[in-house]
Amino acid sequence: MSNTHTKPSHYLITGGTGYIGSHTAAVLLAQQVRVTLLDNLSNSSRTTVDRLQSITGQNLQFIEADLLDTVSIARLFEEHSFDGVIHFAGAKAVAESRTDPIKYYLNNVAATANLCSAMNAAAVKKLIFSSSATVYGSEAPVPYTEQTPRGHTSNPYGTTKAVIEAMLEELCQADSEWSVVNLRYFNPIGAHHSGQIGEAPRGVPNNLMPYLTQVAIGKREELQIYGDDYPTQDGTCQRDYIHVMDLAEGHVAAIKELDKAGTHIFNLGTGTPVSVLELVKRFTHITGVDVPYTITSRRPGDLPAFWADTTKANSELGWSAKRSLDDMIRDSWSWQTQNPDGY
Ligand code: WQD
Repeated sequence: MSNTHTKPSHYLITGGTGYIGSHTAAVLLAQQVRVTLLDNLSNSSRTTVDRLQSITGQNLQFIEADLLDTVSIARLFEEHSFDGVIHFAGAKAVAESRTDPIKYYLNNVAATANLCSAMNAAAVKKLIFSSSATVYGSEAPVPYTEQTPRGHTSNPYGTTKAVIEAMLEELCQADSEWSVVNLRYFNPIGAHHSGQIGEAPRGVPNNLMPYLTQVAIGKREELQIYGDDYPTQDGTCQRDYIHVMDLAEGHVAAIKELDKAGTHIFNLGTGTPVSVLELVKRFTHITGVDVPYTITSRRPGDLPAFWADTTKANSELGWSAKRSLDDMIRDSWSWQTQNPDGY
C-alpha cells in the first residue's frame, strides 16, 4: 500500500461527533474530502452532524455504533470502503480514570484493538491516533520532543494512551503494510470560528477553558485555580494551549505520512507555555468579562509546566499552529455565548 501518491479520499472518523473529531471533520469536509463519522454518542450529540453539514455545505454519513461492538464494526468495514481511519473515540476524563480504570481499558485499549482487528480483516491499514502529551510522563525534560521515550504516566487515562501507542507500534512491526501516526496533543481549546461546533462537556467540566467560560457566562460561581506555588513565573501551572482548528489541520497534514509504512510520532502544540493566571487575565482583556477566581490547593497529578517542541511537525508535516491565544479565547467565548448549554 506504499506506492500510491494519490490522496486517500474516504476516511472513517471515530469519535467524530466529539470535540476534536468534529473539528477535524470540518477541515476535511471544507477540502471536499469524504468522511464517515462514527460515534456511540456517550459523550457527544448527534446535533454536531447537522451543524457540520450546515457550516461546510457538505454531506456526510454518520453511524451510531460502539467500537466494543465487534459485529457492528466488522460489518461497517465490510459495507464501506475506507482509505484510512482517524481514531478519536475514547474516554478522556483523568479523574474518572482513577476511580474507574476498567472503563478506560475497555473504551480506549480494547476498543482500539477491536478497531484494528476489523481494519486488518478489511485490509485498511492506515490509522491516525489521538495520543496525548501525557505519555511523556512526569520526568521528561521540557519542551517535550518526540525523541524522549514514553515515561511514567500518572493516571489510567494516560496509561491507556501509552499502551495504545505501544500496541500500534507492535502492530506495525508485525505487519509492514501498516502505517500509523500517533499525534500527541497538548492542550486543545477554542472552537470553529462559526461558533457552531465546540467543546460541550457534560456535567462539571474537568478542563480549564470550558470551566472558565462557564464561570464567565454565569453558570458557575468561580474558577478554582489549582495552586499558585509552582516553580513558574507567577506560581500557576503552564501549559501549551493550542487552537482546536490548528490541531484539526495537523491531522490533515499528517495524512500524507500514511503513505509511509511504520509508526510516526508528532507533537501537536504551539511550543509556547502559558500559565493559568495569564490565560484568565488575557480572557478578561479580550472579552471584557470578569472571571472571579480563588486559589485552591494543587490538583493531584498536575505537572508544573510542559510544552511542545514542534520542530518535527513543522519540518516533516509542513504544519505549524497559526492561531494566537487571543483567537483561542475569542472562539471559545463565541462558542460558549452562542451555545450556553452546549448542543
Ligand atoms: C490545565 C491547567 C490545571 C481546571 C488534561 C490531561 C491531558 C488532556 C487534557 C484530555 C492545569 C489548571 C484546570 C480548573 C485549574 N487530556 N486548572 N482549574 O491537566 O493540562 O491536561 O486534559 O482530554 O492529557 O492530562 O488540562 O485543562 O485540566 O488543566 O486551575 O478548574 O489548568 O491545574 O494547570 P491538563 P486542564
